Amino acid sequence: MLGILLAAGKGTRMKSSRSKLLFEVNEEPLCFAPYRCLFNLCEKVLVVIGHRGPEVKDKLMERAIEVFGREEAVSKTLFYTQEEQNGTGHAVRVALEGGAKNTGSYDHCLVLNGDLPLIREETLATLIKQATAKSLDASCLSYHAKSPSGLGRIVRDQSGRFTKIIEEKDANPQQRLIAEVNSGVYLFRLKALEEKINELNTNNSQNEIYLTAMLGAEAQPELKSDAVIVEAEEDLLGVNTTYELSRIRKISQSRLKKALCEENGVIFEDIDNCFISAKSQFLGNAEIGIGCRIEGHSVIGEGVSLDGHVNIKNSKINAGAHILWSSVVSGSQVGAGTKVGPMAHLRPGSDLGKKVKVGNFVEIKNTKLHDGAKASHLSYLGDADIGEESNIGAGTITCNFDGFNKYKTVIGKRAFIGSDSQLVAPIEIGDNAYVGSGTTVTEDVPSGALAISRPDMVIKEGYAEKLIAKHKAIKEKISNK
Ligand code: UD1
Ligand code: MG
Repeated sequence: MLGILLAAGKGTRMKSSRSKLLFEVNEEPLCFAPYRCLFNLCEKVLVVIGHRGPEVKDKLMERAIEVFGREEAVSKTLFYTQEEQNGTGHAVRVALEGGAKNTGSYDHCLVLNGDLPLIREETLATLIKQATAKSLDASCLSYHAKSPSGLGRIVRDQSGRFTKIIEEKDANPQQRLIAEVNSGVYLFRLKALEEKINELNTNNSQNEIYLTAMLGAEAQPELKSDAVIVEAEEDLLGVNTTYELSRIRKISQSRLKKALCEENGVIFEDIDNCFISAKSQFLGNAEIGIGCRIEGHSVIGEGVSLDGHVNIKNSKINAGAHILWSSVVSGSQVGAGTKVGPMAHLRPGSDLGKKVKVGNFVEIKNTKLHDGAKASHLSYLGDADIGEESNIGAGTITCNFDGFNKYKTVIGKRAFIGSDSQLVAPIEIGDNAYVGSGTTVTEDVPSGALAISRPDMVIKEGYAEKLIAKHKAIKEKISNK
């Protein structure tokens, strides 16, 4: 079977200069769902692009390559440009003309509107089965819509025979009352489609070549056609406005999470109140708190627990790790059994080993903390390598940037960095070394050594009382003025 995806339209009703087909659903371009179905059901997929065509092609292929592999995706997908968007029928014409040398060997052609992000193969299978059983030349999926407004209506005569599809803009008030609508999913006998597609005209209110004019006993008396009614309204919801997109996003999130519960035993604290990307992967039964976002190519290991409002992006969280409230983890790796947060920020290139502890208000960038290392409070660790079991005291800062270049801090195993220390990179601190609190480390510290830099402390017995009296006097003087 040959597949055609219609992805050239402007999507004017989205009120955006972006291509409608590239708005994301579960972090995939919304035209990826119909593309995926065509990819799985057809031998070749012809994609018609037009408005912002190169961008649509790039984004669609980027995801296709991720899912199906470069070789398969590239060899199976052909793109054709519809220079002017003269309607869905015109788009199919462009595909068939462009792909003429590829179409010879196929009996049937499955055509999908690109704006159907909830479409599933099971639903398409119903059309294929019925159309084949009835030897139809042309067929579409239809359903009874709760709100048919904006959609093409399926017109039937008194005997129930399908006569034509009438677009809302061309429909009379009585036809507008029809609830059965065209879904934008079509199956044609390829020969019949090729024969008739060039005969379609633009005699309609939008002056477009409608693909829908290929169907119905009145519109195409020589073709055997039908509208196959299905119950699966949800699968056939299209995106024409941002409101429809917003509603569809909610449904696709809910489907994705249901599958994660059923297949991996993932537990959601509030299933409607968190976001999971279709690009992310779960390896087991993680627990996901309220308001979490798991974005990009993230991998969540078995038994991982995310408290609420945790944001994970393009990161790997290994088995049993616990990310506490409001932490942000981006482009990083968190080892098994490691604890991060609350309110910690792992920026790209952070690599935490096993049983590491990173506490509140710690920011880490391009830094490795080996197994068992700890930075429990208020630190900035950038461009550093911190050895096993080392302890980074509260307020420690790696001074990695001099305004021009970045430098590395290397800390050995079991080192102890006292609170409020500054480590001025490039610097090395050896195994088992000890840095006294408040030290500004500007020279390498050998293994086992103590480094301390503080002004001498002075004690003045009984001086506090005198100081208080002095300040009181100044205050009174000022307020009497
Ligand atoms: C279309 C159908 C309508 C159906 C509805 C279902 C027609 C004439 N109408 O209307 O009966 O109820 O889908 O969602 O087909 N496109 C192109 N080139 C063009 C025009 C459109 O590639 O010149 C693509 C669009 O990018 C989109 C798809 O075709 O992916 C459908 O176009 P759209 O403008 O959304 O059609 P609807 O008005 O929704
Ligand atoms: Mg549409």
